[in-house]
Amino acid sequence: MAAGSARIVRYILFAFFFIAVLYFISHSSPQGLPLTPDNFGVGKGSSSSGLGKTEGAPSGEKESTGFGSTGIESSSSAGTSKEDIPGSKQSTKGKGSSSYGDIKDSTAHGDLAEAPMALTPADAGWDNLLGTAPGPRMNATFVSLARNSDVWDIARSIRQVEDRFNRRYNYDWVFLNDKPFDAQFKRVTTSLVSGKTFYGEIPHEHWSFPDFIDQDKAKKVREDMAQRKIIYGDSVSYRHMCRFESGFFFQQPLMLNYEWYWRVEPSIELFCDIHYDPFRFMAENKKKYSFVLSLYEYVETIPTLWDSVKKFMKNHPEHIVEGNSMGFLSDDGGDTYNHCHFWSNFEVGNLNWLRSKAYTDFFEALDKDGGFFYERWGDAPVHSIAAGLMLKKEEIHFFNDIAYYHVPFTHCPTGEKTRIDLGCHCNPKDNFDWKGYSCTARYFELNGLEKPEGYENQQD
Ligand SMILES: *[C@@H]1O[C@H](CO)[C@@H](O)[C@H](O)[C@H]1NC(C)=O
Ligand SMILES: [Mg+2]
Repeated sequence: MAAGSARIVRYILFAFFFIAVLYFISHSSPQGLPLTPDNFGVGKGSSSSGLGKTEGAPSGEKESTGFGSTGIESSSSAGTSKEDIPGSKQSTKGKGSSSYGDIKDSTAHGDLAEAPMALTPADAGWDNLLGTAPGPRMNATFVSLARNSDVWDIARSIRQVEDRFNRRYNYDWVFLNDKPFDAQFKRVTTSLVSGKTFYGEIPHEHWSFPDFIDQDKAKKVREDMAQRKIIYGDSVSYRHMCRFESGFFFQQPLMLNYEWYWRVEPSIELFCDIHYDPFRFMAENKKKYSFVLSLYEYVETIPTLWDSVKKFMKNHPEHIVEGNSMGFLSDDGGDTYNHCHFWSNFEVGNLNWLRSKAYTDFFEALDKDGGFFYERWGDAPVHSIAAGLMLKKEEIHFFNDIAYYHVPFTHCPTGEKTRIDLGCHCNPKDNFDWKGYSCTARYFELNGLEKPEGYENQQD
């Protein structure tokens, strides 16, 4: 008797277990369960089907209710294998274009309106951080200037950008270097980026002294700055970098394929989840340039920059826009520069603006004056002054909800509710926004924005 009922109990338990296993298998999403080699990354880099693209499988998009379904597969359906792209130096548009197949349609304003973005916790879809994000994709890429020796520092940056944002969007990533990228750099970065990766070598004329520069004069400046211990004051390559970021990154063949860029440097950190697509936010809200940190430039590096800017304003009044942000840059209506600038190691911006006649004329005028070499002009004040004078002030956006660190400054959103909603891991005490050396309060005042609750407690 006892033995018989024990057997029945065993049968029943076994049946339950069996049903539970069946249920588990049939209800798991593609990124959840199937224990196939693909999901473990086995065969990554050796077969074009095992590149971790399973996230994009349309069957995993059940949770996208409430959003238009257009464009969901746009980043995954192309099926372009990643390993055939690295090393291709010229435009890969031919290969990449199929993945943009429906961008033209889906970025048309009608469709955007049909698939609204969840911008606050009150909006539908806000909490959905799993799987591929619904909605259209912009014509956009990440861009990183890096050396082969930066591989582990850029890897850290990529990992954070992917975890906090891009794993759900799979945007492309362009890497630029004045030397050829080596195989390890390509392997590591391609393994981390969920979108397609492209590697470009910067042409010599974009990373060298233009012929109108007097080498002796430039050398004396570097020696003098070295003595005065001005940061990077004696560096030639830092100057090439600043000039490249000021005038040439957006002209590289690989960058011509895109309208929007997001600049990512080695060793940055992102502290909060990004619940919506910043590229799409920029496009829908007619923004052209954005920032998360602003501060005063080190005067010794730009003593005559504003003189060049004033000369440009006089020669090109047609490029100076009404309703601009002169009030951010100058306290006396443009007579002198207050040294405020947006910190350009983070930027989400519009490439077509940088490629416009206005910006091109601006860069060329500054370049001819020689300050990239006779002083040490940074790309941050150059971009900022351009945005400040040649964009309407509403076209410059402050991304409060993108929490960011680049040595030595942190932007950590003000207000505990925001930080909790966004799952932030930054220390609010580190937030630079309202400190004396930040220009962000000035930006808020100029644009009539209300400062977030609690900012007064973060002023020192
Ligand atoms: C993306 O933008 C670039 C630059 O404006 C343009 O040449 C290209 O045709 C665009 N691609 C798509 C698919 O719209
Ligand atoms: Mg840096």
